[in-house]
Amino acid sequence: MDQQFINILSEYPAGKKEGLLPILQEIQKERGFLTEDVLADVSLHLNLPINKIYGVAAFYDQFHFHPHGRNHFRICNGTACYLFGSSTFLKELEKQLKVKAGSTSRDGKFSLEIVTCLGSCDQAPVILVNETYYTRVTPGDLNKIIHSLKDKEE
Ligand code: FES
Repeated sequence: MDQQFINILSEYPAGKKEGLLPILQEIQKERGFLTEDVLADVSLHLNLPINKIYGVAAFYDQFHFHPHGRNHFRICNGTACYLFGSSTFLKELEKQLKVKAGSTSRDGKFSLEIVTCLGSCDQAPVILVNETYYTRVTPGDLNKIIHSLKDKEE
């Protein structure tokens, strides 16, 4: 356990399960993803079974169990975005980025995640790249986004 992790845990009283979500959120924010070792340490600190902690973390989209790429794409496949062609965009992203949905490219440059709603259904289709929202995305927009990020990575 490193000092940063100890500091996070020390902010929450041992044995108090109310600390679970904020602890996981802080770890996710600091490290970008959760590991089995981290969940085991949280389990010891809060005196909660690790399978319960894993279940909570797996329930929420905000938690991840593997590192994202430097450019993380979240493509919305909710009803509104689906009706505006998000599945076609997903196939295009997989092809151009050479990464399957739910994974990270071998070189660590790109990762791709399908989400159920990004909260902007009236501006579908919506794609979130790192912290930037792209709304009413067209195939041309998608190509520009991909090429600009690929250029940045080279
Ligand atoms: S369905 Fe895509 S933003 Fe809501």
